[in-house]
Amino acid sequence: MSSRGRSPTLQQLLNYWENRAPSYYIEDPFGRAILKAFIEKLQPQSLIEIGCGNGELFSLYKHIPISVGIDWSEEMLIRANLRKGRHYLPNLRLWRHDITQCSPQGNYDVVVTRTVLMHIPPEAIEKTIRHIVKVGERFLIFEYFETIPTEKLAAHNWLHDYVPLFEKAGCELIESYTRPDLPQVLFQFQKKKSIDIPGVQENAKEA
Ligand SMILES: C[S@@+](CC[C@H](N)C(=O)[O-])C[C@H]1O[C@@H](n2cnc3c(N)ncnc32)[C@H](O)[C@@H]1O
Repeated sequence: MSSRGRSPTLQQLLNYWENRAPSYYIEDPFGRAILKAFIEKLQPQSLIEIGCGNGELFSLYKHIPISVGIDWSEEMLIRANLRKGRHYLPNLRLWRHDITQCSPQGNYDVVVTRTVLMHIPPEAIEKTIRHIVKVGERFLIFEYFETIPTEKLAAHNWLHDYVPLFEKAGCELIESYTRPDLPQVLFQFQKKKSIDIPGVQENAKEA
């Protein structure tokens, strides 16, 4: 249950995205430019975008040797695949995957989400972040965020406190960029390096 009452079920949320896919379009050149600058600084050799939708960000991945887009919505992936063809991106693979259920295959230099975690209900967010953290080293988390919501949120939107959530999953905040025009923040997290203390064995990690 969220503070707004019972959350929609995951099936209801999936139906929402399947129905939304044909008309989904958000023009956001400034948002793309912010993400582009962060990706270029990191120069990843591999990247996965979780919740890639119809692939609005794909052209940013053109020069990354291994790139993957995952989404749980078949309708979104159909459109993402058309975009992959239009932009000629042989380096990009697309998989259908529900990030609330488990981690996708592989390990990537950079993991990207843009306006995806804000659609994961509170009861699923911790395990979703654990699934994300397992597949990468650096995390560019570009999500709706403000300290106190200024407007009533729609039934499929949630405000999550990303810094403590990623810290709990074993990450540390490297930097963040707060948009001046929208209540969105791009957080960059990285996995905490374990410190070797002679004679002390690291605790077994969660399976
Ligand atoms: C607002 S759209 C953003 C799409 C894309 N990231 C972009 O910036 O253009 C949210 C996307 O997250 C996907 N999504 C939501 N919950 C998901 C889940 N549990 N597993 C995988 N994808 C999910 C939706 O299907 C949708 O395509």
